Amino acid sequence: MNVSDSEKVATVLEAEGYQLTDAEESADIFIFNTCSVREKAEHKLFTRIGQVRRDHSEERAMIGVMGCVAQLEGETLLKRAPGIDFVIGTKAVARISGAIENAARRRQPQIDLGEREDDYDWSVSPLQRHSPYVAFVPIIEGCNKFCTYCIVPFSRGREKSLPAAQILKYILDLKAEGIREVHLIGQNVNSYRPKTDAGLENHRGATPFSRLLRAVAATGIERIKFTTSFPRDFHPDIVDAIDEHENLCNWVHLPVQSGSNRILKAMRRGHDVDNYRRRIDKIRSSPREISLTTDLIVGFPGETDEDFEETMKLAEYCRFDSAYYFKYSPRPGTPAHELVDDVSPTVKKERCIELDRILRKSQRRSLESQVGRVRQVLVEGLSSRSDKVLNGHTTCHKIVNFEGPADCLGKIADVRITECKTNTLFGRII
Ligand code: 5AD
Ligand code: SF4
Repeated sequence: MNVSDSEKVATVLEAEGYQLTDAEESADIFIFNTCSVREKAEHKLFTRIGQVRRDHSEERAMIGVMGCVAQLEGETLLKRAPGIDFVIGTKAVARISGAIENAARRRQPQIDLGEREDDYDWSVSPLQRHSPYVAFVPIIEGCNKFCTYCIVPFSRGREKSLPAAQILKYILDLKAEGIREVHLIGQNVNSYRPKTDAGLENHRGATPFSRLLRAVAATGIERIKFTTSFPRDFHPDIVDAIDEHENLCNWVHLPVQSGSNRILKAMRRGHDVDNYRRRIDKIRSSPREISLTTDLIVGFPGETDEDFEETMKLAEYCRFDSAYYFKYSPRPGTPAHELVDDVSPTVKKERCIELDRILRKSQRRSLESQVGRVRQVLVEGLSSRSDKVLNGHTTCHKIVNFEGPADCLGKIADVRITECKTNTLFGRII
């Protein structure tokens, strides 16, 4: 989501005549796109602002902050990190150039946290995409779930679905331009609920999201991935849609957070372990060999050894192809912040080590199962170590490195997986 927002801002500024640069020393404006999901991300921001201020005088370079920290902190950010010229909330990014101009002209910090204009065209220009072959397509913004630990509903606001007709037109434009893979993105894509049916009329499905998946599949774009899914709203029909359409990729990211019913309830996730297992069973029963990834939180307030054991048991059961885990980090303003953060840092660390062991084992097993098989890889880049080694993702979102000619870039290549070394796949183009 944050990469997608950076692309949007770069597109807005490019249209106004600004130029993106990789050369920090010659930059006139620094814009930090921020995340407030965990505390560490915020600390990083303040360190980076300090660095830029040390290296660049206030006359030479402007500093702006966008993203969740900007939205949540607004004016207090100016006090916490002096030297900021503008703060742009998540709902005001379309107006970023106005903030830059005002800050320069009035020589005083500008803050805009206002509501986003509904009719703004969020298509990202080809020049500002992170890849010439892959594009992010936001389909829903914000979140209404209010999991007790999570800041997102406060920083991103309520769910708002983009009209399907607009999404489909954008994808057709991307396809015509040569984009081979789209990622439909949102905090919770399964809650997709547009105000009108336009664009979905001819597509069946148990939920608006599974209808959208079928409609996007019908555009003929070569690969479609989507993230993030919320377990309670993950309808089995999504798996049916994947089974029906080759271009819907065989990868589901379904964060579980905990394997203990008591903790899931305290997190107000709206699902229990049984619901989650049922969804996993459906995903695992697909002939498409859908790869399954997840997020987990370790050390939520009140998490006992028994609760953690339940999480370990569920992780063993699910055999995740890959997983992210995070130590619980109290976020001011969330309901869980009122609870005592009673799992000590040492216990959190020990639990992370134990969980890591199980997750690595299943990730390793999943990668090793690829060895000897031929996979379709979208060739996305050259390895940083050698210009003969290419890399890209499989349909199930695993990264593969392989030797091949540079003119394969942007193509979908058949690659035989030959080896799995320290969590990376290697292959040979065939
Ligand atoms: N502490 C730790 N991890 C968190 N996440 C969200 N909020 C917190 C928090 N307060 C994790 C969840 C989510 C991922 C994006 O970040 O696992 O799925
Ligand atoms: Fe946060 Fe829960 Fe919404 Fe995900 S579903 S963004 S964890 S509130």
